[in-house]
Amino acid sequence: MENEIHSQLSILNSQLFFTMNFPIDKLRSLPTPLYYYDVELLRRTAQAAKTEADRYGYHVHYALKANANAPLLRILSGMGIGADCVSGAEVQRAIDCGFAPQSIAFAGVGKRDDEINLGIDHGIFTFNCESEQELEVINELAKAKGKVAQVALRINPEVDAHTHAHITTGTAENKFGINLWQLNEVAKKATQMSHLKLISIHFHIGSQITEVEPFIELCKKVNELQAQLEKIGVTVEHVNVGGGLGVEYSNPDEHLIPDFAGYFSAINKNIQLRAGQKLHVELGRSIAAQCGALITKCLYVKELQKKNFVIVDAGFTDLIRPALYGAHHRIENLTSASTEKKSYDVVGPICESSDTFDKNIALPHTQRGDLLAIRTAGAYGEVMASQYNLRTLPKAYYSDKI
Ligand code: LLP
Repeated sequence: MENEIHSQLSILNSQLFFTMNFPIDKLRSLPTPLYYYDVELLRRTAQAAKTEADRYGYHVHYALKANANAPLLRILSGMGIGADCVSGAEVQRAIDCGFAPQSIAFAGVGKRDDEINLGIDHGIFTFNCESEQELEVINELAKAKGKVAQVALRINPEVDAHTHAHITTGTAENKFGINLWQLNEVAKKATQMSHLKLISIHFHIGSQITEVEPFIELCKKVNELQAQLEKIGVTVEHVNVGGGLGVEYSNPDEHLIPDFAGYFSAINKNIQLRAGQKLHVELGRSIAAQCGALITKCLYVKELQKKNFVIVDAGFTDLIRPALYGAHHRIENLTSASTEKKSYDVVGPICESSDTFDKNIALPHTQRGDLLAIRTAGAYGEVMASQYNLRTLPKAYYSDKI
């Protein structure tokens, strides 16, 4: 019954229905392409996540990998959200932007010694460790400093997130985490290392998950694994179930704020926490995706016999998700006054045919100079930009400073 109710995690939150507004006149005066961030939407989204997590006393860590822009991070740290980092530079950025070191989880399958040392120096919340060798290295580095590092075991729970293969992380075929067959041995060793304190178990099954079942399956796995570890005398104060909650890419304005209520309630109903145990999540996309858009200008329109191309000044260097994952981002013409719709392929200027944002989409009649918004680009947009073709990285503009 429960599963039926939650069988589709509705990413619609109708009570908070509002649309994203673009300051078109101001955008017209700025060099394109550019990233535009609606900071009020970020605030509302993060507040919705926090409010729903607070209901159960859960801790939200924001995954900086989704978007690490300082003005956005300052908003999030100011709301009492923790951080989830995957590099030393992200740990430093989080600290510089006001996140408490004690709220920083540091994950990643390949942490360098200098990155580990940075975390030890700041006394971060946890190093989410992915192998026995990594535990040994952190133990040695902590010992050399006369400190004790807090660690989590990142466990590969073998739960299929049913998402894109490039962003599935929790199955046996993956490079991530400690495999189930090694878990008891590695956990025991971790508790015996003199300069480590094993305080948490950590999981992350994938990203852009829009159904609730994988999260329920994960919770059930966590319950089993906790019981398994307790049998060998290993207990932890914290359980971190990672990130992964998806967002609506097709009609962002209809579902601007993800269903955090459904997500946290599903966790709450299915996870069995021990007395005093604290639950953590690491949300990236669901917090940052909708507040950002890539704004680009139409350079040329090519009308061929079979196809029409809108050639814009943004390329996959500025938003790689369509080229890399075949992802669809809604594209809107912000300035066309036309009521006539036409079918277009929207492509960038880069010399590769994968530099295509979308194919055969209906847009109002589009002409040179029109401004287009490629929506839901706040997460994994700007952070994944490159300078291929010696292109300049676009600038970011914020709704409260524009
Ligand atoms: N925690 C860990 C350990 C992760 O690996 C990730 C994302 C997160 C948290 C945050 O997940 P989120 O809540 O954002 O789903 N570039 C890809 C997404 C890669 C996600 C990698 N890990 C994309 O554009 O779809």
